[in-house]
Order: sequence, then C-alpha cells, then structure tokens
Amino acid sequence: MTDLKSLLMPVSRFVKEMDLTDSAKAEAELNKKFPAASEEIGQIKKLAEDALAAGTICNRGETGMKFSRVVKPQDDAGGCSIDAVFMENSSGPVHTHTKGEVCLCIPKSGAPKFEGRGDTWIVMRAGSRHVPTVQGGAMLIIYWWPEGAVAWN
Ligand SMILES: [Fe+2]
Repeated sequence: MTDLKSLLMPVSRFVKEMDLTDSAKAEAELNKKFPAASEEIGQIKKLAEDALAAGTICNRGETGMKFSRVVKPQDDAGGCSIDAVFMENSSGPVHTHTKGEVCLCIPKSGAPKFEGRGDTWIVMRAGSRHVPTVQGGAMLIIYWWPEGAVAWN
C-alpha cells in the first residue's frame, strides 16, 4: 500500500497543476506525461491489482461495486483525494465533480468500458456530472478529485 501511495504522488502533483476545464486537453497531457505503456503506469497497475487481490483497497461496498479511499486530500502531495473502485457491469451513485475527476482505468476482465470508453486516462471536466458506469466487463479505476471536491447530486 505504501508503495502504491508513493507511486501515485507524482500523478497527484501533476493533477494539481492541470486545467481540468478541458478534458480532451487534460487527457492528452496525461497520456504524454504518464503513457499507458510506461513502466511507471505498469508499476501502479501491478501494485493496485495486488492491493485489490489482497483486499487492502476496494474493501467496502458490495459485489459488482467495491470501493475505498486510498489517500485523503490532506495526505496527498497534490491536495487531491485518491479513491479506488472496482466495478463489474454496474453503475455507482450520481455525482458532480466540481473541480474535475482524473481516472486511471485498469481493465480486469472482459472488455470493460467506463463511460463508454476503454482508454487508460479518462478525465471528467470540472463541473461535469455522471452516473459512473462500467459495462462489458470488470474494471479497477483509481481516481483523483482535486481538493477532494465532489457533490453528491
Ligand atoms: Fe465521477
């Protein structure tokens, strides 16, 4: 866990400096800085999958929708909250990302799509709202909210 948290910190520092009002631009920046095929992202994926298997993350909720907070905003290098969710052909509670949401998507089985997409980095722009949905399989998602900002409506 500690290793996973420390590996997430460079992403947090990057997210803090990003403009999340333009999701396409933000995704392009993330793909350039943290490419899906990079060793860094490979390490994060491996440690996150190990933590999922060990039950140290995504240990709340119910089958098809398990979640946990990984890092609190006050403990994060970029002041973000970092959460993890494991979803299998399911939807979560509606929410609004007042300051944006940066998602690192890790396919686990099948051909899962999050918000209809199979990309590694998916950014929901600041002010966007959704019913988070994974279809076509199972996916582990690690996501950042700047300052932990979210509204449950
Ligand atoms: Fe979201």
